[in-house]
Amino acid sequence: MSRIKLLNIVGARPQIIKSSAISRAIRQSFSDKIDELTIHTGQHYDKELSEVFFDELEIHRPDFNLGVGSALHGRQTSMMIGGIEDVLLQEKPDGVLLYGDTNSTLAGAIASSKLHFPVIHIEAGLRSFNKTMPEELNRIMSDHASTLLFAPTNAAFKNLINEGFRPENSPPYSINNPKIYLTGDIMYDNSLFFAGLSEKKKAGLMDDLRIGRDNFILATIHRDINTDDRSRLENILTTFISLADEFSVPFVMPFHPRTINSLKSGLQALYSDLRNNKFMRIIPPVSFLEMTLLEKNCKMIVTDSGGVQKESHFFRKPCIVLRKETEWIELVTNGTVKLVDASPELIKAEFAGFSQNCSDLDYPGFYGDGKTADFILKEILFLFENN
Ligand code: UD1
Ligand code: UDP
Repeated sequence: MSRIKLLNIVGARPQIIKSSAISRAIRQSFSDKIDELTIHTGQHYDKELSEVFFDELEIHRPDFNLGVGSALHGRQTSMMIGGIEDVLLQEKPDGVLLYGDTNSTLAGAIASSKLHFPVIHIEAGLRSFNKTMPEELNRIMSDHASTLLFAPTNAAFKNLINEGFRPENSPPYSINNPKIYLTGDIMYDNSLFFAGLSEKKKAGLMDDLRIGRDNFILATIHRDINTDDRSRLENILTTFISLADEFSVPFVMPFHPRTINSLKSGLQALYSDLRNNKFMRIIPPVSFLEMTLLEKNCKMIVTDSGGVQKESHFFRKPCIVLRKETEWIELVTNGTVKLVDASPELIKAEFAGFSQNCSDLDYPGFYGDGKTADFILKEILFLFENN
């Protein structure tokens, strides 16, 4: 069989991190069969949301950077689509690998499917059932433009079946006859791989932040529903301050730039209170090894992130999610993730509950065996051999 050429499309922080699991598996086990190319759309451009991961995680460097930057969703996505089309026509890849649910995912799905390049969607089938969320539209549209769909959980696999995807389809696969797989989660591969390394390489971070093991809360906020709605952001952060004071526990908060922008533009007094509070540590976004170290060593996680709530499970930490719903529904059923929206009462109640008793929480293996990237690449090769 001749070598196959796979084109990764990444653009936002979590996709860059996810792509490292595939890059590493290609390097370790498939370099004789697969050539990898990467487009970075430029959706994330700050060093700490992009460059830092390529350096630290030894990810295949982007061969093309479209440099689209920030804009309204339609405009941003359309700029990406044009740039991706140019690369597709020049490079003619055998398949296009898309990750997750960002505007970069959607742009890749539209450009590739319209030019008849097979789309391979990693993290397919996740649904929040809330179409006001930009990511939900991106997921649904990307899945329905795909030829190979890798669902990370039972729930995601079932969602695809409920939307008409047929597990019994047989080769040759195409956009009209797609193949769905139940796999694990490539982010579990990553967390297993980088956990030990984070302790070795980043141990000094805990001293720098003046925090001890199991004695701080890790919090992230970046979703538009929380950052762009001043009253929600204010409710959440004033609740953090009162919990930190009541429980005498530090909150470490590596905040996305959009959260800092919202604080600086409309909530200056609160921003100043946060910076002056002895328990509050607002810091710039950290690298993935640093984040892994913080997740491994914290007492509890509070977040609106999809990735971070799942990593809470990998590291066996209780997690409060600042949303009404989640795509990782098995965590809620399991009782280790609590959905609190932005309600101060619910945040306080769940925080108190997790603070009192965590010993009976269980963290079953929902996300595969840590070798999901290998499985995905084997299946892709099988497809190209048999299609
Ligand atoms: C995007 C994804 C979201 C994902 C998140 C991961 C979409 C619709 N959203 O959200 O699903 O969870 O990435 O972090 O694709 N900004 C900077 N520096 C940057 C990039 C952005 O300051 O390098 C600021 C800009 O003010 C920008 C805002 O953040 O307007 C939002 O950026 P954008 O990429 O549109 O969405 P995210 O909130 O990052
Ligand atoms: N992350 C990181 N540094 C940070 C915050 C998050 O490396 O300061 C990692 C985190 O460990 C996870 C991913 O970024 O792997 C999640 O990205 P984000 O929360 O931005 O997006 P989401 O998962 O919600 O789409």
